[in-house]
Amino acid sequence: MSYRNASVVITGGLGFIGSNLALRLAKEGAQVTIIDPLITGCGGNEHNVATIRDAIEVIPHDISETKRLAGAIRGAKVIFNLAGEISHIHSMEFPERDLLINTVAQLRFLQACVTYNPGVRVVYAGTRQVYGRPDYLPMDERHPVRPVDFNGVHKYAANMYHDMLSRSGQIDGIVLRLTNVYGPRMSLAIPCQGFLSTFLRLVLTGQNLEVFGDGRQLRDPIYVDDAVEAFVRAGLAATVEQRTINVGGPQALSLLDIAKTCARLAGDLTVSTRPFPEDRAMIDIGSYSTDTSQFERSFGWKPSITFEQGLAATLSYYRAELPHYLDPNDPRPNCGLPEHKGIQHRLLYSAV
Ligand SMILES: NC(=O)c1ccc[n+]([C@@H]2O[C@H](COP(=O)([O-])OP(=O)(O)OC[C@H]3O[C@@H](n4cnc5c(N)ncnc54)[C@H](O)[C@@H]3O)[C@@H](O)[C@H]2O)c1
Repeated sequence: MSYRNASVVITGGLGFIGSNLALRLAKEGAQVTIIDPLITGCGGNEHNVATIRDAIEVIPHDISETKRLAGAIRGAKVIFNLAGEISHIHSMEFPERDLLINTVAQLRFLQACVTYNPGVRVVYAGTRQVYGRPDYLPMDERHPVRPVDFNGVHKYAANMYHDMLSRSGQIDGIVLRLTNVYGPRMSLAIPCQGFLSTFLRLVLTGQNLEVFGDGRQLRDPIYVDDAVEAFVRAGLAATVEQRTINVGGPQALSLLDIAKTCARLAGDLTVSTRPFPEDRAMIDIGSYSTDTSQFERSFGWKPSITFEQGLAATLSYYRAELPHYLDPNDPRPNCGLPEHKGIQHRLLYSAV
């Protein structure tokens, strides 16, 4: 089984992970269709697919606008469902916006998959955020689900939609619960997209790093090529032993070590610690690392790119492409969302 000449759909394909997946699948000879309207506040960027733009189709619609998507859904061999808002902070500031993007839009889209392409393989980008504060580490899929923010609640609902529709055979879903992903094409200009985006923005603009807390919290970042490999394998897996699978990185590292590696590889920068701001402390999950044994059983492979290797490749990408990700004259983050406060997302008013 291969992707050669296969039609694949990638929702959220102009974003960080989706665009890296699009590049990989195009290289494998797939016919790639992206569905992504570049939602304000999310990390999509047309430049992410510039090198393959002539070889792919981009449908600039929201996944909830299902009548416009019938043709793409109908012809797809595999649907990679990565559309979503990743920011935990945004979800607390604009909970209804997060609900509409991460839950309502997903519900409408999956219903369309059932209608136009019943039984289709759908690989969904879930998140480890659904687990909340760990009872034990490394965390496996049996850990209780206790999200600490709206993003975790809404992503969990979408996770359950995929599970439920798969149980009844209406789709053939696999949910990859991702840990923190990093690498080329992640948004640097949007605030609140996680510590890795922030660290990269700062070191690439010559600024020192600050870590919240004592810096001993563990994370297991996964390089985007390893995460993409997980999607590629899940898309073609002949049998599905377990439908929700953790995807973690190869090493558990402290935030302080991660920051020091960023500061060292980027230049002669320093790292200090400071107390957690109140809004961050409320949704902080402490340490996290992934038990990837189910992933290895399911796909016969595990992530292998070390943080140091992945970070070196990431810095080299941004050194060449930085103006596409940050305004060199004003590299301050700005997602445009505060202007939208109180208006809510346009999905609220759109027809089903
Ligand atoms: N980046 C991570 O560390 C991480 C970790 C866990 C889970 N995830 C999940 O992976 C997925 C992709 O994350 P990313 O880092 O690439 O994010 P990103 O913000 O870079 O890209 C998301 C893309 O989805 C698009 N999008 C959002 N809502 C949409 C909708 N309703 N219809 C069509 N397109 C829509 C946005 O325009 C954007 O281009 C998300 O679902 C996220 O929850 C990411």
